[in-house]
Amino acid sequence: MAILKVARIGNPVVRARAKNVDPAVIRTSDFQRLLDDMVETMHEYDGVGVAAPQVHVSLRVAVLEVPRGDGRGGRKGVPLTVLINPKVTPLSPRAQLEIEGCLSVPGLRGVVPRFEKVRLEALGRDGRPYSVIATGFHARVIQHEVDHLDGNVYLDRMLDMKSLGFLEEMERLS
Ligand code: NI
Repeated sequence: MAILKVARIGNPVVRARAKNVDPAVIRTSDFQRLLDDMVETMHEYDGVGVAAPQVHVSLRVAVLEVPRGDGRGGRKGVPLTVLINPKVTPLSPRAQLEIEGCLSVPGLRGVVPRFEKVRLEALGRDGRPYSVIATGFHARVIQHEVDHLDGNVYLDRMLDMKSLGFLEEMERLS
């Protein structure tokens, strides 16, 4: 396993539309190693998700995991999930406003609207399709990571750029 270098905005790989994964490669050792490295990278940088374009791999893959009791909104927690060729279907209006950050936009936070409830359909790390219905913070993390696969970051979704700020400054006030 290895901790991968994270690409920040300004690197074209973050803004490119990632390619679908050929299901035939999912079980290969190279691809499984990529998944392990993405998980290790997410843990190293204390993220709740990492998308492959953030580690310079332009493929439709993301991992996410929210620790139980996480202060970012994951009271119940979300188990480690691998999303390959994911599809997200909204099941509610795009109405929830919460603060987000991103490893590719270090140090900053901003308020982003997200669908409260979505259906996620994807392939898992064994190559099998699965479907889950997610709400709240779980749904938010899914939408954030899947956005990365289309070259979008949370800044693009913000309705009011005045809510953008440096975490250090925001913590000083709280
Ligand atoms: Ni991100």
